[in-house]
Amino acid sequence: MYTRRSFLALAAAFSSIAALPARAAAVAKPITFPKGFLWGAATASYQVEGAYAADGKGENIWDRFVLAPGKVLDGSTGNIACDSYHRWAEDVDLLKQIGAKSYRFSISWARIQPTGKGAPNQKGLDYYSRLTDGLLRAGIRPLPTLYHWDLPQALEDEGGWPKRELSDRFTDYAAITAGALGDRIDNWVLFNEPKTFVEAGYLSGGHAPGRKDPAAFLKATHVVNLAQGKAFRAIKGLNSNLKVGGAFDVSPMVPMTSAPEDAAAAERFHKFLNLWYLETALTGAYPTGVLPPARQNDLLGFAAGDEKLIRAPFDFIGLNNYTRFPVKYDPTATDVPGLLASGRWSEGDHEKTDFGWDIDPDGFYTILKLIQKTTGAIPIEITENGAAYNQTPGADGEVHDPKRIAYYKAYLSAVARAIAEGVPIRAYHAWSLLDNFEWAAGYTQRFGLVHVDFATQKRTLKDSAKWYADLIATNMLRV
Ligand code: GCO
Repeated sequence: MYTRRSFLALAAAFSSIAALPARAAAVAKPITFPKGFLWGAATASYQVEGAYAADGKGENIWDRFVLAPGKVLDGSTGNIACDSYHRWAEDVDLLKQIGAKSYRFSISWARIQPTGKGAPNQKGLDYYSRLTDGLLRAGIRPLPTLYHWDLPQALEDEGGWPKRELSDRFTDYAAITAGALGDRIDNWVLFNEPKTFVEAGYLSGGHAPGRKDPAAFLKATHVVNLAQGKAFRAIKGLNSNLKVGGAFDVSPMVPMTSAPEDAAAAERFHKFLNLWYLETALTGAYPTGVLPPARQNDLLGFAAGDEKLIRAPFDFIGLNNYTRFPVKYDPTATDVPGLLASGRWSEGDHEKTDFGWDIDPDGFYTILKLIQKTTGAIPIEITENGAAYNQTPGADGEVHDPKRIAYYKAYLSAVARAIAEGVPIRAYHAWSLLDNFEWAAGYTQRFGLVHVDFATQKRTLKDSAKWYADLIATNMLRV
C-alpha cells in the first residue's frame, strides 16, 4: 500500500533496530501544563468538508485525483467526507463538549477562488466567516491553514507547484482570505507540511496531482518557499498585527546502524525533510550539504534575489509529528537527480499504530529539542499529532479506543518534557477532531477523537475524546 510517509522508499526494508535509542525515563506524574496552554484539535478542508461542488466551489486537484482508478485504497472520494460544510455547527459543538480552546481547520482555495485566481467567491468566504463566528461564540480560537493540499485544478493545469507564477497566485489568495477574515482571526498558518505535498504530489505521485517528475519536484520545493515568503509579507502588509506561521511535519531521522554513512544519510534527511522549508524561511538560505552546490540554483530554479523573497520570519512555528524515519544509506537511491541524501526508510520491527506507523514518543521529544535549535525563541504550536486506531462503536454504542489514549499520554509526556526543558510550546492540536478522509488510504484509517459513521454522519465521542476533555478541564496529564 502507498503510504505517503515513505519518502524515497523504492525497495528496501531493514529489520535491525539495534541502533535505535532506548526509551527515556518516564516523566513524573501527574503533569500540569502551563496556564493558558491552548488545547485543540485539527482537521483539513478536503478531509472533512465534503460539499465538493457547493456554492460555486471550483474543482481542486484532489477532486480530480480521487476519480482515477487505483489512487485511493478503498476507491472512495472526499465528495461527502464528514459533510462538515453543512454540519460545521455540530462540529463546533463537539469541540465545545471536549472543551477545546483552539480549532485548526483549513481553507479550501477553490471555494475562495474557483479557478485559483480572480475575484473571490463570496459564498466561499461566507462559509469560513460563519465557521469563524461560531468558533468565537464558543470561546474557541480559530486557527486556519491556507493550504492543506487542495490546489485549484485550473492552476495545476497551468503547471502546478513547479511553476514559479504559482507563488504569486497563492499570495493573492492569502491576501484575499486574510483580508476578509483578519478582523476576527489573528493567527494564520500558510502551508501544511510542504515537504509532504510536494514530494507525494510531484515525486512519488501517491497524492494529487500524482506526478512523478524529479526535476519538477525540486523546482516545486523552491516555488513553495517563494510562496511562503511572499504570502508572509502580503498578510503582514494588510495588518502588521496578524501573526503568520507554517505547519511543518518533522520526524526524528534514526540511523539504522552505527555505520557512519547511515548517520550521514540521516543528517541529510533531517536537512531535506525537516528543515528545507523551515530553516530556509527563517534564514533565506537552503540547508547546505543536500544538493550539489554547483547545481543547486539550477536544480531549484533559484533566481538572483530569491534569497530575499524566500525569507519568512514566522511569528510562530507549527509542528506535526506522527512517527520516525529509520534511515539507511543506499547508494542506489538516485530518484532525485543531484540529491546527495541517498537513504531509505523502513518501519522496522517496532510497535505500530493500526496504520503501521512506528510509535516513538521519545523521538517526538528528540525532534522537538532538535528543531528548537533552528527556531530558537519563536513560539511553537503542535499543529498535529495523533494515531489511527480503527475501533467502531461496540454493542454498548461506545467507542473504546484505549490505545489512542495511551498514544496521547505518551506523546503528551514528551511535549511536557520538552516544555520543562525550555522549548516554548504554547499549543497542542490532536489529529484529528473527526474520523475523516485519509488521503490515499481513503476511509480505511480512523484518526478521530470523534467517531464518524460515514453512512449516517452520526458523530460519537470516543473514550479518547472524553479522556481529552478531562485533561483539558484540569490542564493536567495523568500518565
Ligand atoms: C498530514 C496531514 C493530515 C493527515 C494526518 C494523518 O500530516 O498528513 O496534515 O492531513 O491526515 O497527518 O496522516
